[in-house]
Amino acid sequence: KRLILVGPPGSGKGTQSPIIKDEYCLCHLATGDMLRAAVAAKTPLGVKAKEAMEKGELVSDDLVVGIIDEAIEKPSCQKGFILDGFPRTVVQAQKLDEMLERRGTKIDKVLNFDIDDAILEERITGRWIHPSSGRTYHTKFAPPKAPGVDDVTGEPLIQRKDDTAEVLKSRLVAFHRQTEPVVNYYAQKSVVTNIHAAKPPKEVSEAVQKALAS
Ligand code: AP5
Ligand code: ZN
Repeated sequence: KRLILVGPPGSGKGTQSPIIKDEYCLCHLATGDMLRAAVAAKTPLGVKAKEAMEKGELVSDDLVVGIIDEAIEKPSCQKGFILDGFPRTVVQAQKLDEMLERRGTKIDKVLNFDIDDAILEERITGRWIHPSSGRTYHTKFAPPKAPGVDDVTGEPLIQRKDDTAEVLKSRLVAFHRQTEPVVNYYAQKSVVTNIHAAKPPKEVSEAVQKALAS
């Protein structure tokens, strides 16, 4: 399967992806995670992406299209993949279509994580992550076994630099202006399923399973 998860910041894309990944043996390609790793490693890509990310704006289409073009070549992605946070503009969606056409494949399904903006601030400001694995926690909704440390490795958890109420506002503006049109783009191809993303994680997972089974 070749899947796209689209939804605003904090809608649960990163929480649901590992569950889908394990169930269907797909690779999980999250442009946000890849960019954060590049910023941390101070690679040329990271240097170019840092400022936009900290302001809650989108990184240029060329940069992210390049990352995905390279990533979907990996042997582990040949059976299928989950795109989390990509495409985020109609230009990115068009480029992705071209990329897949060249390889004789296409997107099977787009899961649209539908949720009201009002509940996203609490999700974003309470999030803690384990950077090397991408595991995500929440102080109220998904607390780690011991405060501030990863359940599996015992390593410290961190908060993302863009996870403030202030930066969230810009991220939401970018989402509504630039990413919502992507949903319409795929709706015209009849591959979109809406997921009620405001429900508890387990119920969201069940809705995702149902959408993927059909
Ligand atoms: P990115 O990393 O993609 O961030 P985002 O889209 O803003 O999404 P988030 O990761 O914040 O949310 P999520 O849906 O994964 O939520 P999660 O599951 O963690 O992008 C970051 C930046 O990189 C962008 O701003 C941009 O600058 C750049 N970028 C990335 N891709 C790009 C692209 N294609 N083009 C251009 N620029 C790009 O959940 C959030 C919290 O809620 C967690 O604490 C979780 O535990 C909790 N939670 C999850 N589900 C539930 C639930 N059902 N109930 C209660 N709590 C829940
Ligand atoms: Zn995420």
